[in-house]
Amino acid sequence: MRILVIGSGGREHTLVWKLSQSPRVRTILCAPGNGGIAQAVRCVSADPQDTAAISRLVLQEKIDFVVVGPEAPLASGLVDTLKATGVGVLGPTKSAAQLESSKVFAKDFMRRHNIPTADYRTFRDPDSALACLKSPEARYPIVVKADGLAAGKGVVVSRNEQEACRAVERIMIAKEFGSAGDRIIIEDCLQGMEASYIVFTDGSAILPAAASRDHKAIFDDDKGPNTGGMGTYSTDDILGPDLEREVLQRIIQPTIDGMREEGNPYQGILYAGLMMTEQGIQVLEFNVRMGDPECQVILPRLQSDFAELCEALCRGRLKDYKAEWNPGAAVCVVLASGGYPGSYSRGKVITGLDMAEEDHRIAIFHAGTSLQEDRLVTNGGRVLGVTAVDRDLASAIMAAYEAVNKINFEGMQYRRDIGAKGLKK
Ligand code: AMP
Ligand code: GLY
Repeated sequence: MRILVIGSGGREHTLVWKLSQSPRVRTILCAPGNGGIAQAVRCVSADPQDTAAISRLVLQEKIDFVVVGPEAPLASGLVDTLKATGVGVLGPTKSAAQLESSKVFAKDFMRRHNIPTADYRTFRDPDSALACLKSPEARYPIVVKADGLAAGKGVVVSRNEQEACRAVERIMIAKEFGSAGDRIIIEDCLQGMEASYIVFTDGSAILPAAASRDHKAIFDDDKGPNTGGMGTYSTDDILGPDLEREVLQRIIQPTIDGMREEGNPYQGILYAGLMMTEQGIQVLEFNVRMGDPECQVILPRLQSDFAELCEALCRGRLKDYKAEWNPGAAVCVVLASGGYPGSYSRGKVITGLDMAEEDHRIAIFHAGTSLQEDRLVTNGGRVLGVTAVDRDLASAIMAAYEAVNKINFEGMQYRRDIGAKGLKK
């Protein structure tokens, strides 16, 4: 098999790493990749948004199937263009990707199909949004969401009227996220533990991945501003069998069926961001791809051949694929540049990776790194994901932090409490 992976983050490094383990894979290419991916496979400097360049690459390299990592090329229709060339593609069409690229689409879809989610209203102009926030019926905290993609920054959980109005002004008037702020959702704030539930689907069969939990805030104890994700863990008891059955029956199955029935079939990876509230489980949002860094704990727990999974999915034969998962735990600690999620500098030399990787339980996934004259340097906010897989959560946490202690670059910051929520239970 010849496979092309699209993207350049820790998620894509993990995809490449797992695909490389398959004896059936002959060649993997990554566009554009990063410093760590370039040490493993050939990287091609093509922009994932440049559909013509990606299509040419697919034809030139005789690619069998393409795995699209990030949301932006999915939202702009890369899959539609690639499918027209006849290649296999893992990822939803532009229309189906609206489950992530438009929060209004996703919320209206959930309402139509009775999928549990916070009550909400949609607004097209700032005056009526502000009036709603100032009305006596408004209950705080309240959540303001830009409709479109905003790199994880378009959701503002607002404690009071002032914060919520400021969010509306930033999103709809100052247009901080451009046209993503043409419409907004204002919705009830849910309380509870969050979980990431990710499935593979070919449009009819559904294959659940091991559940995981992200740590979005920059500092320990979920303090400070949100980031793309500072670490994750995966264990079987994040949901447990009863809750997992409920999520499949009440959320995942109706979503896949509903999309198909509406003439908008969904194929690829579906990620439900869930909140476990006292009133039951609710959907916070859908993503149309693997989570990052969720991917860095999910794929290391997959014991089966991932290339076969992808091939089965692309060919519509997912029901024949049987997945085996490691029964233990995986933990991923993200090492970030000083200053992230605000501004940070690049080009800091990274040391200690070889030593950290000597432990067979450890895998290191690169996000913002690049190779400069054979030296690995930082090149982004989230720099590395240090993943440990072990028999239980406590051992995996210990192994991950032992490895983290061997790695260094100037300004390196990370959370010390990744996985701690899972121990408290
Ligand atoms: P993102 O994944 O970047 O879109 O951010 C979504 C995050 O915003 C979730 O992980 C939650 O922490 C938070 N969030 C979204 N909707 C709600 C809601 N209705 N109630 C409480 N928190 C929410
Ligand atoms: N880690 C959250 C996300 O990928 O959206």
